[in-house]
Amino acid sequence: MIPASLDAHFVPHHVGVVMDGNGRWATRRGLARTAGHGAGEEALVDTAYGALAVGVKVLTVYAFSTENWRRPIDEVRYLMNFNRGLLERRQHELHAEGVRITFSGRRDWRVPKGVLKRMDEAAQLTKDNRVMTLNIAFNYGGRAEIVDAVKRLVQDRVPVDKIDEKAIRERLYHPELPDPDLMVRTSGEFRTSNFLLWEMAYAELVFTEVLWPDFRREDLYAAIEEYQRRDRRFGGVDS
Ligand code: IPE
Ligand code: IPE
Ligand code: MG
Repeated sequence: MIPASLDAHFVPHHVGVVMDGNGRWATRRGLARTAGHGAGEEALVDTAYGALAVGVKVLTVYAFSTENWRRPIDEVRYLMNFNRGLLERRQHELHAEGVRITFSGRRDWRVPKGVLKRMDEAAQLTKDNRVMTLNIAFNYGGRAEIVDAVKRLVQDRVPVDKIDEKAIRERLYHPELPDPDLMVRTSGEFRTSNFLLWEMAYAELVFTEVLWPDFRREDLYAAIEEYQRRDRRFGGVDS
């Protein structure tokens, strides 16, 4: 249930989530790390429904970073198959709820063709939905995103005196999405790990000890309440 103390008129438009702690969740149970990733599906679905219920318009979730290729090959393979399967299992119910599914990240040769195909299918199926955007950061890195934007500036032959923040922003993966207002990271780590570097310039950061597979909509609501207690000044002074 949405807590009465949550101000329904002041819900963050865009929430970013670093879904961390799957490996530790599994290890504590004597399971393989991959079991933690599998258990994260319920957390993701419940969080997405909670975001829908409370009126969040964009939910960006960090599913696989450009640095996660450093993990053991079996874990990487599991994550690729898992994310493909997750789209197969969930895209229709999310579509029925009016969720538009988008992706942020590099489509490089390391991402299996079958995964890219499912991503395209999910994006195509849901492209006209307007209730909420679920943006999945997959093979995503904040630095890579900025590098890709700079490459496009050069390809577009933008003159030096026309290079400004707007010119860069327009070349990010999803310029149509507003910057995140709130970033939540689970598992008690206090870092961004290359998530939405450009876009998070003025996001409120909320950290929780909860491991991702245990995260539920109530934890999202608690993070939103924490956000509502913050004083966002954007470099100015209180009015
Ligand atoms: C987050 O959980 C999932 C991904 C990075 C894909 P981890 O796998 O990083 O879990 P911990 O941090 O090792 O516990
Ligand atoms: C961040 O978690 C990436 C994702 C959640 C997909 P990591 O577990 O990869 O980050 P570090 O290694 O702790 O910084
Ligand atoms: Mg981690």
